[in-house]
Amino acid sequence: MQKNEILKLLADFIAIESVSTDKSRTLAMGQAGEFLARTLTHMGFEVTAHRIADAPPFIIGAYRVAGAHETMGVYGHYDVQPEDPVDAWHSPPFKLTSRDGKLYGRGVADDKGHIIQNIVALQQLIATKKLNKNIVCFFEGEEESGNKHLNDFLALGEARILREPDVWLVTDMGASGSGEPQIWNGLRGIVYFEITIETSNKDAHSGIYGNRVHNPAQLLCDLFARMKDAHSVVVQIPHFYDNIIFPTPTEYASLLTQSDSDASLRARSGAHVLPTTWGPFPGAPSDMPLALTSKLLPSLDIHGVWGGYIQDGVKTIIPARANAKFSCRIVAGQKPENVARLVHDFVCAHIPPGVSIKLTQKEGSEAFYTAVDNLWTKRIAGALEHTFKTPVRYNRSGGSIPVAQALQQKFSKPVILTGFTLPDDNIHAPNENYDEQMFWKGIEALELIYTS
Ligand code: BES
Ligand code: MN
Ligand code: MN
Repeated sequence: MQKNEILKLLADFIAIESVSTDKSRTLAMGQAGEFLARTLTHMGFEVTAHRIADAPPFIIGAYRVAGAHETMGVYGHYDVQPEDPVDAWHSPPFKLTSRDGKLYGRGVADDKGHIIQNIVALQQLIATKKLNKNIVCFFEGEEESGNKHLNDFLALGEARILREPDVWLVTDMGASGSGEPQIWNGLRGIVYFEITIETSNKDAHSGIYGNRVHNPAQLLCDLFARMKDAHSVVVQIPHFYDNIIFPTPTEYASLLTQSDSDASLRARSGAHVLPTTWGPFPGAPSDMPLALTSKLLPSLDIHGVWGGYIQDGVKTIIPARANAKFSCRIVAGQKPENVARLVHDFVCAHIPPGVSIKLTQKEGSEAFYTAVDNLWTKRIAGALEHTFKTPVRYNRSGGSIPVAQALQQKFSKPVILTGFTLPDDNIHAPNENYDEQMFWKGIEALELIYTS
C-alpha cells in the first residue's frame, strides 16, 4: 500500500468519533465497527459482527491460509477516550494531522493507529502471498470504558473462533523513550467507582444552616482525605495492601534499571513538581523509586469531583449532594471484588448514619501477569529485535487492558503485549500523537511478526 493510502485509511478511522463512554456517540461506535468489518472483508477476511446488549459491536475476522498450521490472534480496540479539553488541542482531535514528525489525533496512538498498522501489515502480506499463518482479528469498542460486556461475550458460542489462535498479539502499548521495542509482562487491573453523597433534598443557605446540617461536599472531601494520604500517597483503607504479590528480586532489579528518571517523568507527565516523599507502603521496599510505585503497587485515584455551585460568581449554599468518580488499580494477588468490598465497607464506616450514599462499582478487571520464557515470546521478540536492531525490553505498566487477562484466562495461550508508540504520545490527553517513524517501522515489524 502507498503511504498516502495508508494515511487516508488512518484519517478516515480517526474521523469516526468512537468515544465509547459518551452515550451520545453510540452511532459512531457502530460506524467504527463497520469500518473495520468492511476493511477486513475487502482483504478477504470472513467477518462477523456481534452485538450483545448495548455494547458496541465485537468484530471478528478470520483469514485462512491454505496449508498453514499456526493461527495468530490480533486484538485491538476501536474506541477512544473523550477528546476534552478540546481547547488544549493544537489541531482538531478527530482530524488526523501530521506535524513535526508526529501524527496527531484522538486515538491515533491508543489504539486506532495500531489497528491500522496491523491491517496494513496483513494486507501487504496477503497481496504478496507471504502470509503463512491463519489470522483471527478481534476488535472491540468497549476498552476505554471498562469492557463491561467482554466476559459475557467471550462466554458465548459466537466467540468460539477465538479459541483458534495459538497466540494472541495485543498491540496496545508502546516502546521505550529511546524507541526500543518492549514486551509488557505485567499490567494492573482496575476497579472503578462512582459515588454520590446526599444529605438533604434541597440546597440550603449556608449562613442559616451551616454547622447545623451535614455538608455533603465536606463529607466527600473528608472521605477521600481519609482514604489516601495525599502526601505519602499511601492508601489508608484497612487491608488494602494485603496479599499483594511482589515481583521476584530478579524482575525487580530489571525494573529498577528501566524506571523513568525524575526529569523524564516530569516532562512526560507535565507535572509542575513531583512528590518529595512517598511511602512506606506495606510490604514494599522502603527505598522503592517513585516511578515503580505505579507499576508494582495498588493505588487509588480520584478522577472527577462535582457538586454544589460551580458557575461564575458567588453563591452561598450548602449543596444537597456531592459526587465523584474514582478508581483503584490492583496488582497480582488482589481480586476486583475484594477491593470493591474494602472500599464499600470503608465508605459506609465513614459517612454518618442517615446520610444517603450511592456507591456504584462501574467496572472491574483483574491484573495481568505473564511469563516471557515461551517460544512465541521469543519469536516475536526476535522479529522486533530484527526490525529495530536493538534488544527488546521486558517491562510492566501501571495501566490496564482488561482483555489481556481475559484472553489468557479463557484460552490459556500466550498473550503478548507490545506496540510502537512513544512515552510522549499523550494518550487520553490533548494532542495524542504517534511518532511517524515508529508508525512505519511498526508496520515493518508486524509483517515480520506475522511471518516469523
Ligand atoms: N492502551 C491503554 C493501556 C496502556 C497502559 C497503554 C500503559 C500504555 C501504557 C488502554 O487503552 C487504557 O487506557 N486502559 C484503561 C482501562 C480503563 C479505562 C478500564 C486504563 O488503563 O485506564
Ligand atoms: Mn489502549
Ligand atoms: Mn486507553
